[in-house]
Amino acid sequence: MNNGGFLFDTDGSVLHAHGGHIIRHGEYFYWYGEDRRRDFYVSCYRSADLKNWEFRRHVLTVNSSPDLSRNGRRVNIERPKVVYCEATGKFVMWAHYENGADYTEAAACVAVCDVPDGDFEYHGHFRPLGHMSRDCTLFTDPVTRAVYFISASRDNADLHVYRLTEDCTRVEKLVNVLFPGQFREAPAVFYRDGKYHMLTSACTGWAPNQGCHASADSMEGAWSPLLPFGDETTFHSQPAFVLPHGGEYYYFADRWGGFPMSHPFDYSKSSYVILKLSFTETGSPFIEWNDSFPDFN
Ligand code: DGJ
Repeated sequence: MNNGGFLFDTDGSVLHAHGGHIIRHGEYFYWYGEDRRRDFYVSCYRSADLKNWEFRRHVLTVNSSPDLSRNGRRVNIERPKVVYCEATGKFVMWAHYENGADYTEAAACVAVCDVPDGDFEYHGHFRPLGHMSRDCTLFTDPVTRAVYFISASRDNADLHVYRLTEDCTRVEKLVNVLFPGQFREAPAVFYRDGKYHMLTSACTGWAPNQGCHASADSMEGAWSPLLPFGDETTFHSQPAFVLPHGGEYYYFADRWGGFPMSHPFDYSKSSYVILKLSFTETGSPFIEWNDSFPDFN
């Protein structure tokens, strides 16, 4: 398998899980992501080994709610993330919602399911505490067990960190405004050795750019300044999420529109970059190119 290329499910079909997220539940990993074909929005795949992905379901589709099909027109659902809510035992999805015509809605949406790979019940879209909300991620703090929604606000100028309510379906409080005026997208958060880390991209549409990294001692405290991560195009990728697994950390990213990027832009040519993170002596993550997808051993 070639890093930077397509991935395929166990039926041999192209895997559609962009801008997504992997969670572990029981003996399986579940990969959620954007599926822009036909009537679909979010697809879910399952794997025991992170290599063989079984398609499970189109968990969010145009039929999930009238809000997802405005007068028969598709909306945009981007960067779907799912968290297992410890208080309710439910799986809660947050994603970026746009009206399908332009990017002015700048909202988040929430959907909930009793099982990881069932039909998610759509709960609607909204602006968190009235703030614009575009590229986003979810993060469960492994120390405090608080769940955070992180999203680009103020026309992408700032990155907001919201602590969620116990049932993970609403925002409780805006707890941090990160990198004000620095226009960051594609946040991916992970925890390692007492530090919280964030990878983000700059804001250049679908074109890849220089990734950056920052770290903090707590999600709600002060964060370091952003420093470069990867090369000037982050190996032609944009972060989707970081997966901790077996003591290692894996950078999962999208190569939107393929490589070289399709002109005119063709979303269906989007592929994946997956790289194992390395760390400096002081704990800063970095990536080096590898022609192969990781073996996850
Ligand atoms: C970059 C974002 O990271 C993507 O999720 C998507 O919103 C595109 N921009 C749209 O141009």
